[in-house]
Amino acid sequence: MTGAGEILLRAEGLRKSFGGVQAVRDISLDITGGTVFAVIGPNGAGKSTLLNLMSGIYQPDAGKLTFSGVDMIGMPSHRRVRHGLARTFQKIRLFKQLSVLENVLAGFHLHHQIPPWQYILHGAAFRRDRERCRDDAANLLAFVGLKPRAHVPAGSLSYGEQRMLEVARALATAPRLLMIDEPAAGLNAAEVEALLGRIVALRARGMTVVMVEHNMDLVMRIADRILVMDYGQHLFEGTPADVQAHPGVIAAYLGAEVR
Ligand SMILES: Nc1ncnc2c1ncn2[C@@H]1O[C@H](COP(=O)(O)OP(=O)(O)OP(=O)(O)O)[C@@H](O)[C@H]1O
Ligand SMILES: [Mg+2]
Repeated sequence: MTGAGEILLRAEGLRKSFGGVQAVRDISLDITGGTVFAVIGPNGAGKSTLLNLMSGIYQPDAGKLTFSGVDMIGMPSHRRVRHGLARTFQKIRLFKQLSVLENVLAGFHLHHQIPPWQYILHGAAFRRDRERCRDDAANLLAFVGLKPRAHVPAGSLSYGEQRMLEVARALATAPRLLMIDEPAAGLNAAEVEALLGRIVALRARGMTVVMVEHNMDLVMRIADRILVMDYGQHLFEGTPADVQAHPGVIAAYLGAEVR
């Protein structure tokens, strides 16, 4: 995978307001390829909004954003996916009636190898493409531990399984950078360990991961860098050890949360 050790995503002076609320105020960051970058901060700090700006759900009021040197400003979400940016959402967004496998297949629609007209003219190419997608989807389900559940409706999965399915679906777009918004929310301790293992495995393969997360134990164990936000602002950025040693961060956020 290209980009390991280089700046993959760069934000400069990002701003986003909703009415009178300055959700993101002047956020700048550099995310190095092949690392886990965590964003923490109290409820309403602007973490999800920052992810929404990175993924193109929202466009910033001001600031610059480049991914792999390509200007992302003005680019809609679906085109950013083609550049290698994928994400999950804080609120789970699965097709609950479709099977687990079909949910992952839905993630592939942005990544087909053949142009749409060939689906009509060349049935064989379509079948080959579909078989390849099913194989890839099965591999992704095995990766997140859901292969035995491939044919059940997504809505029948436990909450933790649904979160892992969202990760598999995001991975189906073959991203270089994966953004996950509160992946550990609602997971039990064993599921958090499984999630941690999967993120470590992705990083070992060269994937870059941006993680918004309230589970400080998980963040401190896995993040290479941590950005602390408060009231939309950059409060501090550093390694887990730097963050734990920073008095302002402890006062503003960590005091109540770190065990
Ligand atoms: N679409 C929107 N319209 C109006 N206000 C919004 C919108 N999205 C976010 N906000 C506001 O922006 C601020 C930051 O919200 P955001 O969801 O980014 O916080 P967060 O750090 O992700 O919080 P949490 O930890 O609770 O998920 C909040 O005051 C929120 O109410
Ligand atoms: Mg949020």
